[in-house]
Amino acid sequence: MLKLGVNVDHVATLRQARYKGREDIGEPDPVSAALLCEKAGAQGITVHLREDRRHIQDRDVYALREKVQTRLNLEMANVPEVIQFVLKVKPDIVCIVPERHFEVTTEGGLDALGQEKNLAGTVERLLEAGIEVSLFISANPHQIEAAARLKSPYIELYTEDFVKAVGTPGEEKELQRLIAGAKLAHQLGLKVNAGHGINYANVQKIYRVPHLDELNIGHSIISRAMTTGIEEAVRQMLKLMESYSL
Ligand code: PXP
Repeated sequence: MLKLGVNVDHVATLRQARYKGREDIGEPDPVSAALLCEKAGAQGITVHLREDRRHIQDRDVYALREKVQTRLNLEMANVPEVIQFVLKVKPDIVCIVPERHFEVTTEGGLDALGQEKNLAGTVERLLEAGIEVSLFISANPHQIEAAARLKSPYIELYTEDFVKAVGTPGEEKELQRLIAGAKLAHQLGLKVNAGHGINYANVQKIYRVPHLDELNIGHSIISRAMTTGIEEAVRQMLKLMESYSL
């Protein structure tokens, strides 16, 4: 069964727009949102603790660690301060992502090949602490091979290039890249997640990609929640995901 991890960063973004420094009284609350996602059937909750703390705060992660019953996936950059924090909080899984300070959202995959030396120690420390590891990379064979050498149990394939190509002549080529990437990762013993830019209209186009374990979806679910409520938004996505069978 294809699992859904809901990224609730955007709930915190809305809270920070009015309650920066007063998060204790601020709404909407990403922790309450996460619990409703779980109630609606989501199999995991994802948050990105950015170095600049622009949305999710340390206190959110502590509260999520305490309350999330499914699986807490923490996205982070490979930087010492966040690694220290993560080793204390112990999410179930960490997804290492590239972080550029002026980006609005994560732009592109991690350079696991170029950063292999830096990543090796981090992956090892996290695994030793009992935290699973995923690397957010594009479907490039060199990056996938680097992830396998790093002994990361999971990769998360960056789907934004495909999503942007949907409806253009490049759609099939981008889809084939994801398919080839997922096959290679599977052959190398990696578990395969995918995410970024997935919405209700494009999610089923990804179903030709084999070996997918989990999709991480944020913006589209939180946006739909504005009109349907978050539980219904999650249920609608889960319904679409039922037909994945590869
Ligand atoms: N996966 C990763 C690694 C991400 O950084 C993000 C964005 O925070 C997502 C998935 C979710 O992307 P979206 O909000 O476009 O669904």
